[in-house]
Amino acid sequence: MEYFTGKTIWITGASSGIGEALAKKLASQNVQLILSARRLEELERVKSECTHPENIRILPLDLEQNSQAHEWVDAAWKTFGSIDILVNNGGIGQFGNALETDERVERKLFEINYFGNIALTKHLLPKMLEAGKGQIMAISSIAGKFGQPKLAAYSASKGALTLYYESLKEELINSPVKLQVVSPGFIKTSVTLNSLKPDGSKMNTNSPAQENGMPADVFAEKLMKAIRSSKFHTYIGNKELLAVPFHAVLPGLFYKLIRKN
Ligand SMILES: NC(=O)c1ccc[n+]([C@@H]2O[C@H](COP(=O)([O-])OP(=O)(O)OC[C@H]3O[C@@H](n4cnc5c(N)ncnc54)[C@H](OP(=O)(O)O)[C@@H]3O)[C@@H](O)[C@H]2O)c1
Repeated sequence: MEYFTGKTIWITGASSGIGEALAKKLASQNVQLILSARRLEELERVKSECTHPENIRILPLDLEQNSQAHEWVDAAWKTFGSIDILVNNGGIGQFGNALETDERVERKLFEINYFGNIALTKHLLPKMLEAGKGQIMAISSIAGKFGQPKLAAYSASKGALTLYYESLKEELINSPVKLQVVSPGFIKTSVTLNSLKPDGSKMNTNSPAQENGMPADVFAEKLMKAIRSSKFHTYIGNKELLAVPFHAVLPGLFYKLIRKN
C-alpha cells in the first residue's frame, strides 16, 4: 500500500507556497487532510483546488497566538479521530539589519517560527505516543545552519527549531513517533514577499534567489519522499545547499565570499 493511503495529515502554512503545493499533491493520495493558516479564504481556495475536497477540513489558526495550541490540537485530533502526520510548516521571514530591527519583529518571528511550531508538537506528541504511532515533520531552513547579514532573527529562529527537534528526536529515539526536519534552500514561493522589514511592515518585493528557486510543486514531491524516508534531516533545494557543508568546513572562506557578493 502507498505510504500515505488512509492517513490523516495536518499541514500548517497550507494557504500558500510549500504547504499549498504539498496539500495539492497529497490530496490525490487517498488521504484525509487538515489545512491550517490564518487566512480562511485562501485555505478555502486551496481546498477547492484539491482533488477530493470532501476529504479536507480547514482549521484556521494564528501561530503567534500559540497559547491556544492545545485547543487547535484537540480540534484537529477530533476532526478525523486521530492525526498520523503533522507537517509543521507555517512560518514567516524577516529581512533587515539586526540593529535596526524592532524587537517586536524579532519576538514575532520566534512566536511563529519557533514557539508556535513546537507548541503544536508538544500538545500533539502525548496523543501520538498514547496512540502508539505518529510522525511530525518540521520545516526549518538552510538559513538555520549559518548566520548571514539581514537575516539574523530568521536564521536564529530556524536554527533554534532544528536544534529543538534534533534534541527531541534523541529523547524519543525508542518511541513509535517519527520526528523529522526538512531544511529547504530557495523555493519559489511568497516567503520573501511576506517577510517583515525592520519596522514590521511587509517586504512586498521578491528576491532574485526566490524567483529562480525550485518550483513549489517540485519541492513538494521531494518533501513527500522525505516524509516517507527514515532520515531525520533532509535538505531540499538546488546548488545553494552547498553553502551548508562549505560553511561547516571552511567558515572563514565562506564569509569572505559572502562579503564579496
Ligand atoms: N520558500 C523558501 O525558499 C523557504 C526556504 C526555507 C524555509 N522555508 C520555510 O517554509 C515554510 C513555508 O513557507 P513558504 O516558502 O511556503 O512561504 P509562504 O508562501 O509565505 O507561506 C507561508 C505560510 O505560513 C503561513 N503563516 C504565516 N504566518 C502564520 C501565522 N502567524 N500563523 C499561521 N500560519 C502562518 C501562511 O499563511 P497565512 O498568511 O494565511 O497565515 C502561509 O500559508 C516557512 O516555514 C518558511 O520559513 C521556505
